Amino acid sequence: MISTLNMSREQIEALLESALRFKSGDDVSKPLAGKSVALVFFNPSLRTRASMQVGIYELGGNAVVLEPGGSSWTLEHRAGAVMDGDKTEHVAEFVRVLERYCVAIGVRTFAALKNWEEERKDPILNAFAQYASVPIINLESAMHHPCQSLADMLTIREKLGPSRKRVVLTWAWHPKPLPMAVPNSFALAAAQMGHDLVIAHPPGYDLDEELIETLGATVTNDIDAAFDGADVIYAKSWGSKRFYGNTDQDIATRAQYRSKWIVDEEKMSRTNNAIFMHCLPVRRNVIVTDAVLDSPASVVIDEAENRLHVQKAILARLLGG
Ligand code: CP
Repeated sequence: MISTLNMSREQIEALLESALRFKSGDDVSKPLAGKSVALVFFNPSLRTRASMQVGIYELGGNAVVLEPGGSSWTLEHRAGAVMDGDKTEHVAEFVRVLERYCVAIGVRTFAALKNWEEERKDPILNAFAQYASVPIINLESAMHHPCQSLADMLTIREKLGPSRKRVVLTWAWHPKPLPMAVPNSFALAAAQMGHDLVIAHPPGYDLDEELIETLGATVTNDIDAAFDGADVIYAKSWGSKRFYGNTDQDIATRAQYRSKWIVDEEKMSRTNNAIFMHCLPVRRNVIVTDAVLDSPASVVIDEAENRLHVQKAILARLLGG
């Protein structure tokens, strides 16, 4: 489960239906009874970590949480590496040992924002997949966050029904560059679900071109026009690929967008009573104003809850047989 790239709309719909059965209590099955799942976090997390741990427990299983460089050894992932630096263990052994104990391995490994051409290939996640004979679940990599995007699709379905909606993914100003896994995966899943997808960002802040050019999205640098008639506003900040390896230049360039690229009441008033979505964590009065985040339009808490139900559906599909 690296991304939704190879999933059909029917497969996504089936996962969402399964998630809804877990959410409603119609499905109380325990497909993980007596089994353990490893969760490997190279980066911090609230929602992903807690919802995976709770979901595995509710499916009858046990979660083993590991933090390379913290609660477990530092990890090398490069094939052929001469390990005379600060890395203690290679992914080759780490994975093959873990799968003697665990039936699946979840991995969170963010972009380092140093070299997009290298990072877009998700080298650490792919090293896990290369050595594993158990399913690998992407808990957010440089390129994708499929658990988030599937929870997002479930939230849109619950709030607005199954029909095609005008879904706007908008960049927002943030004091520092952030990874683009969430917006890449949201755009991909929204297109896979047949939505009318608009992506708004300042010049130079394009998402992954190879991915986006397949989606049939409208891409605009005009945030005002993007909000007109929207059914869904999905806000997220991300770094410019041009400035990977040069954080200071990105920070200097984005300064001009601070006052304009924020979700506020004025922009929301021009939508079609849109719902407001964000994957969280969100910086208040930076990405979105308090007035919008605390309004009835905001569905961010339900969206976070849906992580639990969708991930139970993913785990049941991967491991339930
Ligand atoms: N949305 C999300 O993945 O949240 P965490 O980073 O807290 O896991």
